Amino acid sequence: NGGSPSPAPLLGFSAVAVSSADEIVVPEGYSYQVIIPWGTPILGSFPSFSVNSTGADQAEQVGSHHDGMHFYPIDGSSDDGLLVLNHEYVEPRLMHAAAQGLALTSSALPPLVDGERPADQVRKEANAHGVSVVRIVKGANNEWSVQPDALNRRITALTPMEIHGPVRGSDFVKTLYSPNGTMTRGTLNNCGNGYTPWGTYMAAEENWAGYFTNKGDNPREHSRYGVQTGATSRYAWELADNGADEFVRFDASIKGATAADDYRNEPVCFGWMVEIDPFDPTSNPKKRTAMGRFGHEGVVFAPAEEGKPVVCYSGDDSRFEYIYKFVTAANYNAATANGSLLDEGTLYVARFNDDGTGEWLPLVYGQNGLDEANGFTSQADVLVNTRLAADFMGATPMDRPEWGAVDPANGDVYFTLTNNTSRNAGNVNEANPRVANRHGHIIRWKEDGGDQAATTFSWDIFLFGGDSGESGVDTNIGYDPNGDVLTADNILSSPDGLWIDPDSRVWIQMDSGYTDPFGNCAMLVADPTTGDLKRFLVGPIDQEITGITMTPDQKTLFINVQHPGEGTSATDFAAGNYTSSWPDFTPATRPPRSATVVVWKNDGGIVGS
Ligand code: FEO
Ligand code: CA
Ligand code: CA
Ligand code: CA
Repeated sequence: NGGSPSPAPLLGFSAVAVSSADEIVVPEGYSYQVIIPWGTPILGSFPSFSVNSTGADQAEQVGSHHDGMHFYPIDGSSDDGLLVLNHEYVEPRLMHAAAQGLALTSSALPPLVDGERPADQVRKEANAHGVSVVRIVKGANNEWSVQPDALNRRITALTPMEIHGPVRGSDFVKTLYSPNGTMTRGTLNNCGNGYTPWGTYMAAEENWAGYFTNKGDNPREHSRYGVQTGATSRYAWELADNGADEFVRFDASIKGATAADDYRNEPVCFGWMVEIDPFDPTSNPKKRTAMGRFGHEGVVFAPAEEGKPVVCYSGDDSRFEYIYKFVTAANYNAATANGSLLDEGTLYVARFNDDGTGEWLPLVYGQNGLDEANGFTSQADVLVNTRLAADFMGATPMDRPEWGAVDPANGDVYFTLTNNTSRNAGNVNEANPRVANRHGHIIRWKEDGGDQAATTFSWDIFLFGGDSGESGVDTNIGYDPNGDVLTADNILSSPDGLWIDPDSRVWIQMDSGYTDPFGNCAMLVADPTTGDLKRFLVGPIDQEITGITMTPDQKTLFINVQHPGEGTSATDFAAGNYTSSWPDFTPATRPPRSATVVVWKNDGGIVGS
């Protein structure tokens, strides 16, 4: 009586229950719409989706396996903008019509015909990779639709790209395609993303190594990243039956006298962050090599501050790999900032000490032993072999670093560590404390002195995934990280996608292979102050929830559903019995498809409030 009312909780919705249904579940008072599934025409002759679509059609359609995503408003609008999204990979068995005479019974192998791949199938798969830029507008009843627009664009595994930063022009990236080492073609396995303070988009190259093979020499810039020797590559694009240079290059064997005579260096043209200007459809995407070469999950920029360096963070999603930070050499100036800021700066790798402190270890040629005595010959060499340089510096091997996010209120950095069942008693540490970490955790740190560019920090664990009996409080390490055990409202496994909205809600997306007791992969929201955590959305069967962005007014949320029906067995696939038929529910003519889901609050409020 007479006191001020208590503030509304940050998370104002009621948690949704675990679900195993083949549908999207959103909280009471919310609605959703599915847009731009794989194959949606956006360009050129606007070819309709069909399993008979050609490789050329696919270049004018939305790609497959939607992942990281960002909304770029047109003139600040929350009703009109460019949705830019990654297409991580493809499943060949879903892509080619049975009428083409193929036995599409395996998820693991692409359809070989007499030991080769029909070239148009390879072209279709390559064109289903990369990035889509799609103008979308909001109409009546909050329903969004694709607009034909000169800014609509497809960037694919075949698009010409520029190499920038210290590796540009070095011997490491000279190829038959670009004998001076300044260009390459395509981006591969774009998982998470980032968005720069100057309005461009960053696509991350994650599991690119599998797209290549080499048949003999296996240099460290291949081997430390897992480029296989001998076997065909993941999709066998190098076996395209037209022998085209753009496909043959995926065989990175030594064939000629020098690197400029063959494609031995093609794998070195991948593993980078790729900058794309969605508002300049004629611009070449740019690979920013100063940010390092690894299995980039994504990149997150700290809020840019005038007169200070730009700072961003990127995880290397593989078991026992590292978390990195990049600090630009030049200071930020909002009036002039552009991507060239990313060509000069310092790449650091994280060491998490057991006492809750941490250090950023610089990966700089000529410093701390990164020199000829230890096999590093230049800064280009350090960057091409980022993982080896990080090994040398004594970074902390993590439980698969996925997405990062920065809290705009206080600069705290959060990273998902999705899981690592290979972690054992001999190599646990306080930052990765679980043996056989099945359900993952989220680590958080604060840079020392309130300076995002600091070289020291303090960290804690924000959240442990798991079911209600094993998570929240982690008994292995004997302390309670977030004050609560998880409950039916918020059990989760394998956190992957992560984003913190302008009000500091922490959005957490699952990419889990476990169903019981977690149900289908879901998205949850946390309040970083109270530790409150609620399940907000559940996806259909055999998918992951990934990619997240909002309109500037925070009244429209976009997320992606990737690989629905992924778990369909080869036998069931041949019979057309997918485990999921989302979102079309017409399995006889359309396979399950990745797509974007738009979510809004029926009362027009901020999503999550
Ligand atoms: Fe493509 Fe690390 O998930
Ligand atoms: Ca991911
Ligand atoms: Ca994942
Ligand atoms: Ca995935």
